[in-house]
Amino acid sequence: MNIFKSRRSIRKFTAEPIPQEVMTSILEDAMSGPSAMRRDPWEFIVINDKKMLADVSSFLPHGGLLQDAACGVVVCGDIKNAHDNSESYMLQDVSAAIENLLLSAESRNIGSCWLGVHPRRDRIEGISRYFSLPENIIPVAVIALGFKAETKAPETRFNINKIHYNGF
Ligand SMILES: Cc1cc2nc3c(=O)[nH]c(=O)nc-3n(C[C@H](O)[C@H](O)[C@H](O)COP(=O)(O)O)c2cc1C
Repeated sequence: MNIFKSRRSIRKFTAEPIPQEVMTSILEDAMSGPSAMRRDPWEFIVINDKKMLADVSSFLPHGGLLQDAACGVVVCGDIKNAHDNSESYMLQDVSAAIENLLLSAESRNIGSCWLGVHPRRDRIEGISRYFSLPENIIPVAVIALGFKAETKAPETRFNINKIHYNGF
């Protein structure tokens, strides 16, 4: 199986919970991503409480599907812990961790969908207030996870025109 092509955004989930040890392995894979100066500025809030999933989805205009997910992971970045305290480094590190998380889930046949938070002020503020996050902890995305209740064909978006050798 080519997990790079079979990973698709899954927006329908079964009610089956994700075993704790599987969640821990997925998060271990997320934390294996590259990180500027190895600062690992990522933080993960795992939500498996139904009411909390519904509450958090209310901050996400395109995140209603979170209510039916087995769990959601609010992936945050700690700006105090990022290289040069830089938002850009933090976002790059956290995005690498998120992609690892998605591919790790896919390798276990668990569906996922990236729900955008950053840079939308209202979403960042809603989630920060809900979890009483300290100022240095910035929510970047919420990842919906669960066993798949829909199938999607593997896809390639390969476009040879995007590749530039030895110049643009
Ligand atoms: C930064 C970012 C934000 C996204 N936000 C949402 C979202 O709010 N709701 C949603 O259903 N999908 C969201 N997606 C998923 C994209 O719609 C999806 O990845 C894209 O359409 C490609 O489809 P695929 O994931 O099946 O390959 C987001 C993806 C990224 C990278």
